[in-house]
Parts: sequence; structure tokens; C-alpha cells
Amino acid sequence: MKRKIIIDCDPGHDDVLAILTAHHYCQQLEILGITTVAGNQTLQKVTDNILKVEDYCQLDYPVYMGYDSPIVLKSEPQPLAHGESGLDGFVFEKTNRKTESMHAIDFFKKCLIENDKVTIVALGPLTNVAMFVKTYPQLANKIDQVVLMGGSIDSGNILPCSEFNIYHDPHAAYILFNSGVKIVMAPIEACYSGKIYLKELMEFNKPGKLYKMLDGLMKFYSKYATDRNWDSTAIFDVLPVEYLIHPEFFDTKEMYVNIEIEGKYTRGMTVCDKTGRKINSITTTVMVAVNRDEFIKDVLAALSSLNEQLG
Ligand code: RIB
Ligand code: CA
Repeated sequence: MKRKIIIDCDPGHDDVLAILTAHHYCQQLEILGITTVAGNQTLQKVTDNILKVEDYCQLDYPVYMGYDSPIVLKSEPQPLAHGESGLDGFVFEKTNRKTESMHAIDFFKKCLIENDKVTIVALGPLTNVAMFVKTYPQLANKIDQVVLMGGSIDSGNILPCSEFNIYHDPHAAYILFNSGVKIVMAPIEACYSGKIYLKELMEFNKPGKLYKMLDGLMKFYSKYATDRNWDSTAIFDVLPVEYLIHPEFFDTKEMYVNIEIEGKYTRGMTVCDKTGRKINSITTTVMVAVNRDEFIKDVLAALSSLNEQLG
């Protein structure tokens, strides 16, 4: 039985890798649709990006636009990591592709009415997911689980203790983490545990239409690492997808996790109780380690297969 999923994202280079990996596993994952949210770049830019990628890669998943700003705070795009377009490194031709007219949370509503259970793969700020949970709580109970890239155990990539997706909309994260919806979380530490070496990205410097796109995109994306003399980088958003396909690659721990929404220096911090104490009835399944070699081998094999298919 295929797992029905919705991918909520802010493409974003690593979001694209995650979507392509999920597409490769179309025998196990039924992607009902892709929803976009403001994060790495503005809502319009991240939406334009996924439309162009779908056109270029001949994908046909319906795309629904969500919220263009966090619930309370203002948007903070990240051109340093993803460029002014949100997907710098490869110039896509203009596309005639259009989004669906329905809003993302109305698409969530439609999917959860029509299906017994749906998994939400959340790869950007949690604005859309939280607004859905708040607006349709009776349907939120039908969410099988939210598997998300976000948060950290004791590090940060936007503040010392805050990861970008949670930092960007901490109030949304607070709503979701306190909703009772089952959450599986890929924190920064797990993402770096599953790091890709820059030399492994040379894989895309080979013939093929998909590789041509990936080579350009990942050359831009890895600049963040080379500028810091790192020999590797994280492909953050791919972890939630690989978790659904290969849970055996991951070590997880049940933890109480809550969200700091008032801290001056800790806005968006995911406060994780590593002792496993049950502070309330809600626990989050936190990825604490990844079998890096198996994880990266599987992602590269998926992309290689897609590259052959695309020609
Ligand atoms: O902190 C990493 C996350 O922020 C990833 O989802 C990346 O795409 C950006 O959205
Ligand atoms: Ca993302």
C-alpha cells in the first residue's frame, strides 16, 4: 500500500533534491501534491521555482500556494544559502505551468477528507501546516504524521540555538508541536550526520539533462560550504523523505520538544529534553543519527536513475 504524502516546501536546493528522491520512490510514495510556503525566498519565488523544476524534469504534481509570511513575524528570505531566486545556479527557461487555484490549507483539507490518512512531509517553515491544524483541528487528527526537517538538539544555523525553518515561524512550530499531531523531526545534527562530501557532488558532473541541472544547482549550494573551508554540506530536506523509505538508516529517540517563541537570543529554539522525560503526553520522534554512507548512496542512486530516465 503506497503511503500518501503531501510535500510542503520552500524550494530551495535541498527541497528539490527531496522532491526528486520522493518522485523516484513513486512505487512506495504517492505524492498527492506539493504546497509552497514563504521561507528560503518569497512565496512567489519558491513557487516559481517548483513550477520550473517540474517543467524541466517532466514532473506533474499539482502545486498549491500557501502563506506568504509567518503567522506573527515577518519573512526573512535567505539569499546567502539559496540565492536571490531561491534556486540560484541553474537558469531555467520560462514555464507556462501554473499553480492550482486552491489555497494550500484547503488542499490539505481536501486530501484529509478524501483519504483515511496522509503524511505531511514539511521541508520549510511550518506556517501552512500550523494554520491547517488550527483551522481544521478535527481533520488534523487524520494526519498520520508530520515528518519534518527542522529544529536542533543543541545547535543552530540561524541563531546559536535555532534552525531556520523553526526560527522563521516559531509560532507555527509552537502550534504544531503542541497539537498532538505525531511528529518525526530531522534536526540539524542528524542532517550533518548524513552529510554529503563535496567530492560526492562531482557525481553530477556527468552527461544527462537532470545532472546538468543538479550540477549547476549544487555548485551554487555548496559555495556556502567551500566559503567556510568545509569538505561537506548537508542536504537537509532529503532526510524526511529517506526516513519514510529507509527508516533503518536512522536512529531515533522519543523526546519532549517545545518551541521558544519569546527568547531574544533563542527565538525558534527547539527545546529538547534528551533524558526522554515525559514532561507532558506529547513526545516527538527525533532523528539522532543517520547511516551516512547508506543514506547518501541511496540518494545518489535515486538521482542517477532519474537522470537516465530523463535522458
Ligand atoms: O535549516 C535548513 C532548512 O532551511 C532547509 O529546509 C532549507 O531548505 C531551508 O529551508
Ligand atoms: Ca526547505
